[in-house]
Amino acid sequence: MHLLCKTVVLLTVVVAIRAEKNDLTRDLKVILPSGDKMSVIGFGTGGVRGIRGIENVTKILDDVLGAGYRLIDTAAAYENEEDIGKALKELLPKYNLTRKDIFVTSKLAASKEAFGENAYKALKQSFQRFGFDYIDLYLIHFPGYFPPPGPNTNFSTLRDETWKQLVKGQKEGLTRNLGVSNYNIRHLTELLNNDHGVKPAVNQVEWHPEYHQDELLEFCKKQGIALQAYFSLGGVENKTTLLEKPDVKHIATKLGKTPGQVLLRWAVQQNVLVIPKSRSRKHMEQNLDLNFEIPEYDMNILSNLKQPGKYIWNPDTII
Ligand SMILES: NC(=O)c1ccc[n+]([C@@H]2O[C@H](COP(=O)([O-])OP(=O)(O)OC[C@H]3O[C@@H](n4cnc5c(N)ncnc54)[C@H](OP(=O)(O)O)[C@@H]3O)[C@@H](O)[C@H]2O)c1
Ligand SMILES: *[C@@H]1O[C@H](CO)[C@@H](O)[C@H](O)[C@H]1NC(C)=O
Ligand SMILES: *[C@@H]1O[C@H](CO)[C@@H](O)[C@H](O)[C@H]1NC(C)=O
Ligand SMILES: *[C@@H]1O[C@H](CO)[C@@H](O)[C@H](O)[C@H]1NC(C)=O
Ligand SMILES: *[C@@H]1O[C@H](CO)[C@@H](O)[C@H](O)[C@H]1NC(C)=O
Repeated sequence: MHLLCKTVVLLTVVVAIRAEKNDLTRDLKVILPSGDKMSVIGFGTGGVRGIRGIENVTKILDDVLGAGYRLIDTAAAYENEEDIGKALKELLPKYNLTRKDIFVTSKLAASKEAFGENAYKALKQSFQRFGFDYIDLYLIHFPGYFPPPGPNTNFSTLRDETWKQLVKGQKEGLTRNLGVSNYNIRHLTELLNNDHGVKPAVNQVEWHPEYHQDELLEFCKKQGIALQAYFSLGGVENKTTLLEKPDVKHIATKLGKTPGQVLLRWAVQQNVLVIPKSRSRKHMEQNLDLNFEIPEYDMNILSNLKQPGKYIWNPDTII
C-alpha cells in the first residue's frame, strides 16, 4: 500500500489518481492536461499480428473488458477502428459500461494521404469509422511518413501543418486529446515551440529493458507529457528475447511473478504507461495485476539490459 502510494505520487506529470481501493494499479489513472483521466495500463490491438476482423475483435474485446481494461489502443494503420467501434457498442452494456467509461486512443497513419494538410480529413475518417461521439486521444503515429517523398526529406513544415490540422479537429470535438508517437526530444522541442495552442498530452514510444531513453522520460516529465510504452514485452517478434532473459526470469521467480509482469511493472515503476497486447485471457489478467514493487537493485539490473538497437522504426533519422 505504502509503496504503491509512492508510485501514485510519482506518476504526476499529470497528477495521478487512484480509483478503487482494492484494485490499485489496474485502476490507476493519470490526469491529462484536459482533465481527462487515462489508465496507466491499457490494451494494445496493433503491431505484428494485430487484432482484426469483427469476430476476432469482438471475442478478444469481450475478454479485455471482462479482465478489467478500460483503455484500448489502436491506429488507422491497424485497420480495426470500425470493428472496435462496433464491438464496443455491442459489449459495453454487458459490462454495465458506457462510452465515457472507456478511453480509446487512435493514430494518424504515417502516409502521404494522412499527413500535412490531409490530417484533419484523416482524423475525421478515424472518427467516422469508430462511430462514437468522440475519440479520446489521437496521436501522430510517426514524425514522418513512408515512403518519404525524397532522400533526406525535412518533414518539419509538414509536421507543423499536421499538428495545426489536428488542433482544428480537436476544437471541433473529433478527439478530446492530442499527442504524438515515436517523437524524440528534437521533434518534441520543435512541436512545443509552435504548438498552435495545444501541447501534446502523450508520447508513445518503444520502451523495454533493451531500449529505453532516460533523457526522453526526464524531458517528458518536465513538460507534463505522459510517456507511454509500446513493446513492453518485446512485441510479437522479439518477445522471447525479453521474456526469456535469465535476469528477467530470475527476478520474476524471486518476486513470485511472471516475466511479463516484471517487464510491465519495470515500466510502470518508472512512471511509464503501458499497453500490452495478448490473445490469452490469462495473460490479460496477469498484465493488469502489477500491484507489487521491484526492488531498486533489480530495477537497475533490468535497466542495464540496454542494447544499442531499437526493435522497429527509428525516428532519429527523421529530420
Ligand atoms: N506507436 C507505435 O509505433 C507502436 C508500435 C508497435 C506497437 N504499438 C502498440 O503497442 C501495443 C503493444 O505492442 P505489441 O502488441 O506489438 O507487443 P507486446 O505487447 O510487447 O507483446 C505482445 C506479445 O506478448 C505476448 N504476451 C502478452 N502478455 C504476456 C504475458 N503475460 N506473458 C507472456 N507473453 C505475453 C503476447 O502473446 P499472447 O497473445 O500469447 O499473450 C504477444 O505475442 C500494440 O498492440 C500497439 O497497440 C504501437
Ligand atoms: C482472426 O484470427 C484468426 C486466428 O488468429 C486469424 O487466422 C484470422 O486471419 C483473423 N481474421 C482476420 C480478419 O484478421
Ligand atoms: C450498473 O450500473 C448502475 C449505475 O451505475 C448501478 O446502479 C448498478 O448497480 C450496476 N449493475 C451492475 C450489475 O454492476
Ligand atoms: C528543417 O526545416 C526547418 C523549417 O524550415 C528548419 O528550421 C530546420 O533547420 C531544417 N532542418 C534541417 C536539418 O535542415
Ligand atoms: C526482432 O525481431 C526481428 C524480426 O524477427 C529481427 O529481425 C530482429 O533482429 C529482432 N531484434 C532483436 C534485438 O532480437
